[in-house]
Amino acid sequence: MKITMIGTGYVGLVTGACFAEVGNDVLCLDLDAAKIRTLNEGGIPIFEPGLKEMVARNRAAGRIRFTTDIDEAVAHGDVQFIAVGTPPDEDGSADLKYVVAAARNVGARMTSPKVIVDKSTVPVGTADRVRAAIADELARRGVSTAFSVVSNPEFLKEGAAVEDFMKPDRVVIGTAPDDERAKSALRALYAPFQRNHERMIFMDIRSAELTKYAANAMLATRISFMNEIANLAEKLGADVELVRQGIGSDPRIGYHFLYAGCGYGGSCFPKDVQALQRTAQEAGAGFQILDAVERANAHQKQVLAQKVVRRFGENLQGRHFALWGLAFKPNTDDMREVPSLELIAALTSRGATITAYDPVAMAEARHALVGNAAVSYADGPMSALEAADALIIVTEWKEFRSPDFSSIRAKLKAPVIFDGRNLYGPGLVRSQGIEYEPIGRPDLGKVA
Ligand SMILES: NC(=O)c1ccc[n+]([C@@H]2O[C@H](COP(=O)([O-])OP(=O)(O)OC[C@H]3O[C@@H](n4cnc5c(N)ncnc54)[C@H](O)[C@@H]3O)[C@@H](O)[C@H]2O)c1
Repeated sequence: MKITMIGTGYVGLVTGACFAEVGNDVLCLDLDAAKIRTLNEGGIPIFEPGLKEMVARNRAAGRIRFTTDIDEAVAHGDVQFIAVGTPPDEDGSADLKYVVAAARNVGARMTSPKVIVDKSTVPVGTADRVRAAIADELARRGVSTAFSVVSNPEFLKEGAAVEDFMKPDRVVIGTAPDDERAKSALRALYAPFQRNHERMIFMDIRSAELTKYAANAMLATRISFMNEIANLAEKLGADVELVRQGIGSDPRIGYHFLYAGCGYGGSCFPKDVQALQRTAQEAGAGFQILDAVERANAHQKQVLAQKVVRRFGENLQGRHFALWGLAFKPNTDDMREVPSLELIAALTSRGATITAYDPVAMAEARHALVGNAAVSYADGPMSALEAADALIIVTEWKEFRSPDFSSIRAKLKAPVIFDGRNLYGPGLVRSQGIEYEPIGRPDLGKVA
C-alpha cells in the first residue's frame, strides 16, 4: 500500500519504517529540512533501538523515502498518517495547529480519495476538526473528492518503539460506524502485525481519541501513587520495594509500572495529563485524581534535590556532583520534560557544579543546558565521578546496574549515592561503606 507519513519524528519515523518493513511503499514528509537531509544522507535524527538498521534496510530497498515536498507527499499515499507534534498550549490544552495545518495541506492538494489517519495524540473532537479543515480546502477548490478520517492513536514506548510497533498489545481504530472503506484499509495495513492473534479494536472515533489519554493518565497515576507510597514509607520506616512486591503479586494490580522514582517526564505523560485535565474542565466534568497526580509529580521531581540539600546544606557552593543519566528513561535521547533538568537547576542555582554522563542523551542535553556553565560532561560513568562529593542517579540505564562499588567509594569524597531509580539493594551499597539514599527505602536497621 502507498502510505504517506506526515511528520517524521519519534512516532512518524518509527511507524513509517515499520510499515515499510512489511512491504509498504512509504513516503515520510517533514517540514524540518535538516531532519530530512539527515535521513536522506543515511543518518538518523533520534536514538531508538533497532531503528537505524530498519530505516537503512528499507531505504536501500526503496520502500521508504523522505521529503519536504508537500505536493509529492499528498500525491503519494492512499493513506495519509498525521503524526505531527501536539505540544501543550499555554493553558495546558493540546495545541492542534500542526495537526490542522497538516490536514489543510492534504485538502488543498488531494486529487484522489484518501484515508486520513490521526496518529498524533489529540483531544476528543479533533477528527471533526481535521474533517472540517479538509472539507473547507476542498470546497475552496470547488472539488468534492471522497475522504475518510480515522483515529489511530499510537501506544509505542520510546526506547522500545520498534518492538512495540512490530508486536503491538492492541491497535485501536476509531472510524465512522459505516465507513467500511476506512476499516478495510486499516485492517489490511495492520494485518502483518498480528499474525499470532487479532489485536485490532474497532470503535467510534471519540472513544479512540479518549482511549489514548485514558491510557497515559492511568500510567501516570500509577507512578504518582507509588511515589507517594515511597515518600510515606520513608517517614514510617518501611521499604517501598517490599511493598511493591507485596501488592504487585495481586493480579488485579500487577507488577508493571509500580516503581517509585524521581518523577515521570518525557514528551507524553506530562502533556497528556494536562491536556486531559483541560478537556475535562472544558466538558464541565473536572478530573480530581489528575490534579493530584500532577501535584505529586511536581513534588517528586524535587525529591532528589531535597535529599542532597538535607545532606550537604542549602549552600552548595564548592560542591561537585556526578550525575548518571539525563534522559527521562533508558534507551532514549528524549530530553523533553525530564526530571534531570529540574534537578540540575535546583543544584546549580545553589552553587553546585555537575559532571553528567548519559549513554545517548548528552547531545540533546547540551542543547537543553546551553548557557549553564556549571554543567560539564564525561565520556563514561566512572570518569564522571572525578572530584565529585556524591553520585546522583536519575536514569536506570542497564550499564549503571552493577557498578564497581569499591571504585565508587574510592572516587567520591563523601561517599554517598542518591539513587532516583532504586537500582541497588540498600544492604549491598551500605555494606561497601557508602551512604545510600534511594527513594522510599530508609535504612531499616536505623529506623527500629
Ligand atoms: N514520542 C512518543 O513516545 C509518542 C508515543 C505515542 C504518541 N505520541 C504522539 O505522537 C505525536 C508526535 O509525537 P513525536 O514524539 O513523534 O513528535 P516529534 O516532535 O518527534 O515529531 C513531530 C514532527 O512533525 C513535524 N511537523 C510538524 N508540522 C508538520 C507538518 N505540517 N507537516 C509535516 N511535518 C510536520 C515536525 O517538524 C516534527 O519533526 C504527538 O501527538 C505525541 O503526543 C508520541
